[in-house]
Parts: sequence; C-alpha cells; structure tokens
Amino acid sequence: MPVQLFEGKDHAAAYLQYRVAPHELISRIMSFMEKGKSNRFNFAVDVGCGSGQGTVLLAPYFTKVVGTDISQAQLEMAQTNSKPPNVSYRQSPAEELPFANSEVDLVTAMTAAHWFDRQKFLVEADRVLKPGGCLALLSYTMNMGLEYEDKSEALNDICKEFYAALLPFRDPYLGTDSGKIYSDMFESCSYPDKEWNESFHVKKTLPLDSYIGMVQTFSSFQKLLKKDPEEARRLSDDIRTKLLSAMKVSSPETEVTVVIKYFYWLARKP
Ligand SMILES: C[S@@+](CC[C@H](N)C(=O)[O-])C[C@H]1O[C@@H](n2cnc3c(N)ncnc32)[C@H](O)[C@@H]1O
Repeated sequence: MPVQLFEGKDHAAAYLQYRVAPHELISRIMSFMEKGKSNRFNFAVDVGCGSGQGTVLLAPYFTKVVGTDISQAQLEMAQTNSKPPNVSYRQSPAEELPFANSEVDLVTAMTAAHWFDRQKFLVEADRVLKPGGCLALLSYTMNMGLEYEDKSEALNDICKEFYAALLPFRDPYLGTDSGKIYSDMFESCSYPDKEWNESFHVKKTLPLDSYIGMVQTFSSFQKLLKKDPEEARRLSDDIRTKLLSAMKVSSPETEVTVVIKYFYWLARKP
C-alpha cells in the first residue's frame, strides 16, 4: 500500500488547513448507533485519522476517542490541531489495531479505508468491536462540485477538467472507482444490520483558493507534484484563472460553495 504518500509534512499541513470535516455525517452515524440498545457510548476509534478533523467530531458522544494512523507526519499535525481532552492519537496500521478484543463501541474510517488492506482491516475492526458496536466507513468521490451564483455549470466544467488532468496520477491500488471499493467491502461484511448510502452531499462555503488547496491534497495531485512540480503549479494556476474568469471576479479569496459527494456505510456487529 502506498502509504508513504501521506508522510510529507507539507502535505499533512495542507490536510489540516484544507480538508473539510464531515460534521453532518457524524449525526447520521450517531443516530444509527442510538437505534441499538444503548445510548451511552464509551470508546470510539477513528482509523486512518490523518490530521484529526473527523476524529475530534466524535468527542462529544464518547468518553474516549482514539485516532490511529500509520503516518507520523499526519499524527504530528493532528497533535497541533486543537483537541478536546478525551481525544488522543496513536500510530498504528489499520490492520493491527492496538486495542483489546471487544473493547470498542464505534470504529470509523473517514476517507481512509480505500488505502488499507481492506479485508484484513474488516477482520481487525470485527475483533475490536463490542457486540452491538458499529463500523462506519465513509468517503467522498473526487468530483466535488462548485456553486457560485448562476455560474455553477461553467465552474463544474472547469472542475471536471482539473479532475481529468489528475486521473492519470491516481494510485493503481485504488482502481478507477472508489465507490466500488466501498460497496465490495459492504457486501463482504456479514453483519445483518447494515445500511449503504451512496449519495450524501456536504456543502461548505470557502474561498476559491481553499477549494484549489483541497484538490491539491488529493494523492493524485501529490503524485503529479512529486513528478513534475512545474506542471502541477501550471495546472493549478490555469484552473484558478479559468474559474475566476467564469465567475467574473479577480480575487481568489471570493467565496464559493463546495459540494462534497459522500458515500458511506454503517453496520452493527451482532
Ligand atoms: C485520505 S487520508 C484521510 C484522513 C482523515 N481521516 C480525513 O478524513 O481527512 C487517509 C489517511 O489514511 C492513512 N492510512 C493509509 N493507509 C493506512 C493504513 N494501512 N493504516 C493506517 N492508516 C493508513 C494515511 O496515512 C492518511 O492519513
């Protein structure tokens, strides 16, 4: 697995700065958990936590939350982020979690499970989950949309150009369709109480340059950056110029709404 992609300190810092945390999805996960017997939860583990934006969202619902990641650089960044006192971080592979059998109420992986050895991770999540505990895997597609006044369609054509230019740099481990990775994992999960949702949109209004910054955190952009930094810069500058021109504004600080297209699945261990 190409996890070294996440070891760059600048990349980890960009994660913390630009990645949008899926607040709305956390309440979906909690409603699913509360449908079970208990509504008091002790322990959540966020696997592949990166710089911890998703991990901290779990803090209000659990006595203890631990974010785990294989990347030291990401975890160092998570430590610099403000965190509630019940959140901590540990370095560990997703396939060998440092927890006892049947100890955990919720295992999440947010935009991370596609990088794991997926079958080993599912076995490991099953090992650490309590009976009645839940597994929540969520991720989003690369084709984020943009909304701005009546110009959204034109902006989305330019975004598609951006994503198409990055496609050749997508890691072969991911194949062409992350949705398929998650639906295969969903199918292979034997828990009878499970649900799949393939279209949950999270919207966030932010400066145009933060949208560009977010795409630059994608592993495909990072690969291009490593291979040909000049081309990576040219591509970002070109897309920024085209977007500004379609918006008929000059400042990259102009706010746009980014539409992030999530899919997720939830399952309860019997
Ligand atoms: C795309 S980032 C997502 C980070 C964070 N969950 C978020 O939502 O922004 C994927 C993370 O998974 C981690 N990762 C990849 N493979 C891993 C593995 N086998 N075990 C643990 N972490 C892994 C990477 O280091 C990276 O921090």
